[in-house]
Amino acid sequence: MATPALLTPNLLTIGQLAARTGLSVSAIRFHESRGLVRALRSAGNQRRFARADIRRLSFVLIAQRLGLTLTEIERALATLPEGRAPTRRDWLAISQRIRATLEERIRTLERTRDLLDGCIGCGCLSLGSCALYNPGDRAARAGAGPRFLLGDRPADFDAPTARRKRRSQP
Ligand code: FES
Repeated sequence: MATPALLTPNLLTIGQLAARTGLSVSAIRFHESRGLVRALRSAGNQRRFARADIRRLSFVLIAQRLGLTLTEIERALATLPEGRAPTRRDWLAISQRIRATLEERIRTLERTRDLLDGCIGCGCLSLGSCALYNPGDRAARAGAGPRFLLGDRPADFDAPTARRKRRSQP
């Protein structure tokens, strides 16, 4: 078996980076094409990655699992400094920036968990419970989509509240 080429301890081949992060080589190339990591080039024009890129790609992986879009992830990573490994303070700043997004996602997941077995205000009116929660598809007044999962509450459409809501609209 061939011995892998010797590298400086802080530089990784794309295969080593793939093995360590669990991403495929093609996924790493994709993230590189989006600017999420930047490879150096060896004398033989092969990609070489900094060890700090393990953390960048791991952040991408986790953030995607948490439901952040690639655009949100790109925006967060764009705040990291160029030309040096990010410090603990840099990562802390990113963590604080995405905290509000994550907390909103958590609230949505909690609402989904609590509501998915009942009426979700989607307008189908097909479940027996919809007659209780969304008679006449009143949730449609708030717009398209599963209104109760999106944050509207059945109580928002009780007659006095609904009247208040309508009065406050321009
Ligand atoms: S589940 Fe669709 S309107 Fe209630």
